[in-house]
Amino acid sequence: MKLIRTENYAEMSLEAGKFIVDKLRSNPSLTLGLATGSTPKGVYEYLIQDHEENETTYKQVKSVNLDEYIGLPAEDPNSYHYFMSQNLFNHLDISENHTHIPNGAASDLEQECLRYEKLIKELGGVDLQILGIGQNGHIGFNEPGTPFTSRTHIVTLDQNTREANSRFFNSLDEVPTHAITMGTASILESKEILLLVSGESKAEALFKFINGEISEEFPASVLKNHQNVTVIADRDALKYI
Ligand code: F6R
Repeated sequence: MKLIRTENYAEMSLEAGKFIVDKLRSNPSLTLGLATGSTPKGVYEYLIQDHEENETTYKQVKSVNLDEYIGLPAEDPNSYHYFMSQNLFNHLDISENHTHIPNGAASDLEQECLRYEKLIKELGGVDLQILGIGQNGHIGFNEPGTPFTSRTHIVTLDQNTREANSRFFNSLDEVPTHAITMGTASILESKEILLLVSGESKAEALFKFINGEISEEFPASVLKNHQNVTVIADRDALKYI
């Protein structure tokens, strides 16, 4: 595992952005695994700016997102479909049918999980997966206790996760209770993983990730079994390291 230390959120985003663009230059038909949330927003801003200034193209790129809330239609401003369109896809030359996000409004959610898992296989797997980390160590929405063997599945969100994400909603009650997420095993099959960690609220999680044992009680710890992981963290997140 490689750890890149940065001063702050802006520098973390810049380093991660350069990292991704380098990969795109050597493989323009990359399959990118994407995350939502606060952490990758700055990276997406970098990718948009780079696309505008340096004409990096996404015409052959395919993307698969980690997760989606259950019960929110794609047009809902709190859905991850909406987040991805607003914060990335609408600003790149990526074709809409190359972007994939689990459908949290599907009528048959079990079937949707199987479809998504099959889709990832058909795409030849994820070349580079971008991840954030939850304060409880979750990756995607694989909450503590999720088996390391899990595939795309339906999860009940932890109270801690719902509280952390309530900042985007009018109230905690509005935060969905369930989500679809790529499983831990699905994530671990990515050829390469880029984990981004920013801010003091993640310092404890980063400490546990680096120093703790590999355990299903701390899902991110499984990344230590992967051969090609880069962590880019900022000074606040590295407080205890
Ligand atoms: C989002 C995702 C989550 C987030 C994590 C951190 O698609 O899979 O695991 O990466 O909850 O969220 P932020 O970046 O908002 O702190």
